[in-house]
Amino acid sequence: MRKGGINWVDGEDFFGREVELKALEDRMHEGIHTLLTAQRRMGKTSLVRELQRRLVEKGQLEVVFVDLEAAIDPADAIAEISVRTKPVDTAWKAIVNSMRSISDRIEELSVADLKVKLRARIDAGNWRQRGDAIFTALAEGDRSVVLAIDELPILVNRLLRDEEGCITPGGKQEVDAFLSWLRKAGQSHRGRVTLILSGSVGLQPLLEQAGLIAHANILSPYDLKPWSRETAVSCLEELAGSYGIGLAPEVCRDMCRRLRCCIPHHVQMFFDRMHQHLQRTGRENASLEDVERVYVQDMQGVSGQVDLQHYENRLEPVLGRAGYAIALEILTATAAAGGITAETIDRYRDWFSTQELPRGDGTLSVNDVLHVLLHDGYLEPEDGSYRFVSGLIEEWWDRRYGQGFIPAFDR
Ligand SMILES: Nc1ncnc2c1ncn2[C@@H]1O[C@H](COP(=O)(O)OP(=O)(O)O)[C@@H](O)[C@H]1O
Ligand SMILES: [Mg+2]
Repeated sequence: MRKGGINWVDGEDFFGREVELKALEDRMHEGIHTLLTAQRRMGKTSLVRELQRRLVEKGQLEVVFVDLEAAIDPADAIAEISVRTKPVDTAWKAIVNSMRSISDRIEELSVADLKVKLRARIDAGNWRQRGDAIFTALAEGDRSVVLAIDELPILVNRLLRDEEGCITPGGKQEVDAFLSWLRKAGQSHRGRVTLILSGSVGLQPLLEQAGLIAHANILSPYDLKPWSRETAVSCLEELAGSYGIGLAPEVCRDMCRRLRCCIPHHVQMFFDRMHQHLQRTGRENASLEDVERVYVQDMQGVSGQVDLQHYENRLEPVLGRAGYAIALEILTATAAAGGITAETIDRYRDWFSTQELPRGDGTLSVNDVLHVLLHDGYLEPEDGSYRFVSGLIEEWWDRRYGQGFIPAFDR
């Protein structure tokens, strides 16, 4: 097993998740459209890629994987879906045939060139028909198709908001149109084309904010959890074996205890930093002191920051500027005190209701923000209060913002 970097992993580098793979495989055979949710770096993309790899290996279903992270509008999304249908013969032939009129050497074009040509022919007026044609073509093959669409919420978010992060009526309309189309396509080809949607921004909170939650109702949610400590320990042991270093069971357990929540990417990152640390010091076996050192200096230090920074950065697009200001305050209060009580949240509610926040869409209250923070795996309830799910993120947040922190209502 090789170490995971920041990209998804599959095949021999993919660890565990057998229960999840089985559950999703069953869903795909049953034609259940699925919304895979989990916070960033939990391994959603890896899980979908590995699922598809196994389905192809078994030869029962066809698979298409589309990433909409860079799509800017529905027409763009349809162009991206079109070019990614290449593994499915029927769909690909249909697309190539539809392009003959513009080039007779269409087979020789690269995917990128083809996308440019396709994109030029898809616009606000015809993307629905084009999209329907793709679904129809996908549905016509001998085998059912698993159509994975990754990072759909990023596109939805981009459509919804203006530059200042406010939800606009035009944005709502566009999202409404796109998701209505997707929902209808999914319904009419049920059993032939099965959707698996995923993304690191929760789709449901976004749709709730926009009042469009009905669009999620053909999707059956599947919540991807962190690894159990047991799985994380096994993964560390397997990696240690592959790289010829010694991580005793108590060392692995201590690493996982510190993370508290074993997000696969954090487990991989911890292993990588430990491996580098041992290499630097010319040793093979890690001690508990090494765990302490690597955790504090490398995981929380400069190299860890780039990865952890994502947890903060993704909040602004999700919450808009006003919501983001509230989230920063709540998270910092939680990190600084190791938890936040319902009374403190009430005080924030009163305080923020008297504040002039950056222009917002009027819907984001302390409650909404808390809802997103819980849904997206930042905070969890614990004995009537809330705390960070991840020990790593809690400590990182505290170091970054918690020093000398005074709650806004006391400043
Ligand atoms: N099943 C897994 N086995 C090993 N490493 C994993 C696994 N899932 C995730 N990872 C680690 O986490 C990183 C992020 O995974 P990714 O699938 O991109 O997460 P997400 O799509 O949820 O953001 C990978 O680069 C890898 O290091
Ligand atoms: Mg991903």
